Amino acid sequence: MRLCSFAVLSSLILQITASSWSPRDAVETTQLSKRALLQDIVTWDANSLFIHGKRVVIYGGEFHPFRLPVPSLWLDIFQKMRSMGYNAASVYWDWALLEGQQGDYSASGVFDVGLFLDLAKQAGMYIIARPGPYINAEVSGGGFPGWLQRNPAHLRTNETGFLEATYNYINNIGKTISDAQITNGGAVILFQPENEYLNGFATGFSPNVYYVQDVEDEWRNTGIVMPYTDNYGHDHFLPGSGIGAIDLYGSDSYPQGFSCNDPYNWLSSDVQTNEYQMFEIESNSTPPMIPEFQGGSFDPWGGAGFGNCSVLTNEDFEKVFYKNNFASALKIVSYYMTFGGTNWGNLGYPLGYTSYDYGAAITENRELTRAKYSEAKLIANFWQASPAYLTASPEKAQSAAIYTTQANLTVTPVIDSNSETGFYVIRHDGPEGTTNYKLNLPTSKGIIQIPQIQGSLTLVAKDSKIHLADYAIGSYNVLYSSAEIFTQQNYSKYSVAVFYGGLTETHELAFSGAPNATIVSGSGVTVSEIDGATILNWQTSSSRKVVQIGSDLYVYLIDRNSAYNYWVTYLPGTDSDPFGTFSTSQPVVINGGYLIRNTTLSGSSLYVTGDLNTTTTIEVIGAPSSLSCLYFNGVLVNTITGTAPTLSGQVIYNVPYINLPSLASLNWKSIDSLPELSSSYDDSLWTAAVLTYTNNTYRPNLTTPNSLYASDYGYNTGTLLFRGHFTATGSENGTVELGLAGGEAFSSSVWLNSTFIGSYNGVADASSANVSYGLPSLTTGDSYVVNVIIDQTGFEESQTQGADIMKAPRGILSYNVSGYAPSAVSWKLTGNLHGEAYEDRARGPLNEGGMFAERQGYHLPSPPSSNWTSSSPLTGTSGPGVAFYSSSLDLALPAGYDVPLYFGFPGASNTSNYRCQLFVNGWQFGKYGKSFGPYFQMLPFDSRR
Ligand SMILES: *[C@@H]1O[C@H](CO)[C@@H](O)[C@H](O)[C@H]1NC(C)=O
Ligand SMILES: *[C@@H]1O[C@H](CO)[C@@H](O)[C@H](O)[C@H]1NC(C)=O
Ligand SMILES: *[C@@H]1O[C@H](CO)[C@@H](O)[C@H](O)[C@H]1NC(C)=O
Ligand SMILES: *[C@@H]1O[C@H](CO)[C@@H](O)[C@H](O)[C@H]1NC(C)=O
Ligand SMILES: *[C@@H]1O[C@H](CO)[C@@H](O)[C@H](O)[C@H]1NC(C)=O
Repeated sequence: MRLCSFAVLSSLILQITASSWSPRDAVETTQLSKRALLQDIVTWDANSLFIHGKRVVIYGGEFHPFRLPVPSLWLDIFQKMRSMGYNAASVYWDWALLEGQQGDYSASGVFDVGLFLDLAKQAGMYIIARPGPYINAEVSGGGFPGWLQRNPAHLRTNETGFLEATYNYINNIGKTISDAQITNGGAVILFQPENEYLNGFATGFSPNVYYVQDVEDEWRNTGIVMPYTDNYGHDHFLPGSGIGAIDLYGSDSYPQGFSCNDPYNWLSSDVQTNEYQMFEIESNSTPPMIPEFQGGSFDPWGGAGFGNCSVLTNEDFEKVFYKNNFASALKIVSYYMTFGGTNWGNLGYPLGYTSYDYGAAITENRELTRAKYSEAKLIANFWQASPAYLTASPEKAQSAAIYTTQANLTVTPVIDSNSETGFYVIRHDGPEGTTNYKLNLPTSKGIIQIPQIQGSLTLVAKDSKIHLADYAIGSYNVLYSSAEIFTQQNYSKYSVAVFYGGLTETHELAFSGAPNATIVSGSGVTVSEIDGATILNWQTSSSRKVVQIGSDLYVYLIDRNSAYNYWVTYLPGTDSDPFGTFSTSQPVVINGGYLIRNTTLSGSSLYVTGDLNTTTTIEVIGAPSSLSCLYFNGVLVNTITGTAPTLSGQVIYNVPYINLPSLASLNWKSIDSLPELSSSYDDSLWTAAVLTYTNNTYRPNLTTPNSLYASDYGYNTGTLLFRGHFTATGSENGTVELGLAGGEAFSSSVWLNSTFIGSYNGVADASSANVSYGLPSLTTGDSYVVNVIIDQTGFEESQTQGADIMKAPRGILSYNVSGYAPSAVSWKLTGNLHGEAYEDRARGPLNEGGMFAERQGYHLPSPPSSNWTSSSPLTGTSGPGVAFYSSSLDLALPAGYDVPLYFGFPGASNTSNYRCQLFVNGWQFGKYGKSFGPYFQMLPFDSRR
């Protein structure tokens, strides 16, 4: 036995020993697609994509860098995705954040596109790049920068003015993305120009193939050579269809919709059983693809909250719907979202709140606490470990019929015509109940009714399973299995396969050729031989059974919850491996608790990195070479070897001492953030509203003498302030009427000089409102100022072509001060400091709004607060107004732990109307509006030291 030495992972120079490729990783030579391609690394046929000539399933999830503004955490998310069996991330970028001022593309720091792509490569995650220019994505303007409001061209059309506006963004980000294409050694394998282009057309507009072609050409001109995908799901842009054609056809699918109010109320009969057939009608020469499949749900103001959305799309939803995607033979699929993140710094759209958790597999604070993460991992790993699937296609789904006598079960056979492997996706269609059944399974030995030995199979409502026939594991043939496979891996000396089932379920597994079966550990497995096959029959329990088949296959029979602790990672490829960090040729299978991030091998020492939340035994059950030493996070583990080829040892988890400061007991300082009410306030530096016209195509006709659209003056984000000056000509008790626009759930307050005259609290579904407030008596000859604050909620998305809804203005649409001609009032306005020439390059163009405290930069670290009043936000203001509170705190988190933190305001008062926004070190973490519910949370901390 080799002596294990202590080493720290980070100081090691990794020398990876080459080991032979397992059969399923052998490079498959195949006829490339006949379509002329710009490169030959990523190709396809009707079954699947090929990368470097090898068939691959692209199985991934959506992750937006801009919703996690902490580059050091991007790798964390990529690793969590790769470790769940995903090999690709689909990624939007938000133009509005990268070109806040027209002509000034800025992508450094938290906006660094190249770094994000480098980290994807480091984690071995392929990238499906979707940079727009339009992305929708529940972001302000659907990704369109505010300055487009002034562009007289229609959005998303081939009008020159619009196309020209896209050039700077496309040229810049296109260059960065093209540098990171797989052809240049990077992660990018597919590219989607535009997004959801066909969601609607205003009168006079129709699908503009010229526009789509123009955008495609623009991207190509920046060096993008990867195949184009679409998610338009429409025959205007089919592969080979001419102008605007894409390469790989796909269509998004959200079968449960977006209402999280009643999350348990869904039927597996909502499952589409003809997805594959529909796909074949549209595009039978490309691999079946769903570029966005439901991975969660967005949630509107006052919605049920993301906890409910995660239930709507929970592990049961995944079992039924993700396995139905398997039944649809999808070879390219991405789940939207897999990590949602946060709408920090005003980047969200008006219909949603700060959190963009999405109920996704990875929570907003990056935790893996939802069972849907683990369940998705089981499904993804099976998908990746089943090479026969790559060339399989489904037959028609059968209700009961030939496979079973139980009418409430549906079976979709997915058959690989090359290997004759059969995947039988069986689903329980009822809303509740448990169905016991026997399955008449077609195998190479004819139709066999399983289980043969004892018991029956069971399927509960909202569950689905993939039963197998003639499935190869190493040199063995699984004649059939009712238990599902998490993974199976083949090494030069042995093979390993992990089967799982629900607790108490009976399962049966049969091997052709009657190989010997030896129980290595555990009990309760009946071994029989029938018709030249070795049959294992057992009842699933939490105690593991390991059976050796023949001389070199180790079969693990476990329950679902135990399987949640198993991980497959891949050693980075050697120099001769064209796949590099994306390689899957050297898998390592580990039973190891909360998270295994990655593994590297040095000689016979395996270095494992991961996260624990309790004392855990790390057990390696499959590795490309024999191991003598195991390190976890750089520390040598005391190990024992098992009867089966395993190496395991316990890693102690020391519960960290975490003492978060109480926000209530901090030393808070406060300052009035509405000095505009003071009679001495000087607004001479404010922008005068002098434009007598607007180019806004959404609302081209002004109903005020001068435009009061904030974007006409370059204010595109956050709070807006307007001051209307007039001189009283009488003492009448009149009214002021205002037509205000701020996006859904916006709010506003109005003062005459320092006298509060009214507030509008907003409603979740109105983006504008007309308000009328009584005026106090005026003194003839005196000057007055109508002070208007608008808490706006961002720009609308722009789904309907030609309607240009993104241009719906924010500001004052109309006004009337009774007794005065409109021209008697002259207006000034302000928003974020310097508008589109935004000051804060680190935090981007949208982070700051127009509140006094924001314009002064008091939200930045170390505000000059020593002379401010001592007052706590928990006390609040005594009447209408705006107060800014500041304090500092030391988190003092222990080193070596990843401590996900968020701000929550569960006890926020619902009895008075208020709005608040929270800044931490200058970053706007979120906004809260009373009665618009779910409280915000924001988590861009990297607590790891
Ligand atoms: C722009 O699109 C329209 C269809 O909306 C088409 O008729 C026209 O030819 C296109 N112009 C150019 C320059 O491609
Ligand atoms: C550790 O995390 C897993 C997965 O989220 C969870 O099921 C388990 O309860 C956690 N254990 C502890 C001790 O927190
Ligand atoms: C499924 O069918 C069986 C037999 O008809 C029945 O006993 C069972 O209640 C059904 N379950 C549901 C959920 O419909
Ligand atoms: C099966 O087991 C028997 C008894 O242990 C042994 O004699 C025989 O060689 C084994 N056969 C194979 C193929 O391993
Ligand atoms: C493994 O993960 C650790 C922790 O994130 C990271 O520092 C290291 O670079 C990773 N190693 C490889 C080979 O990806």
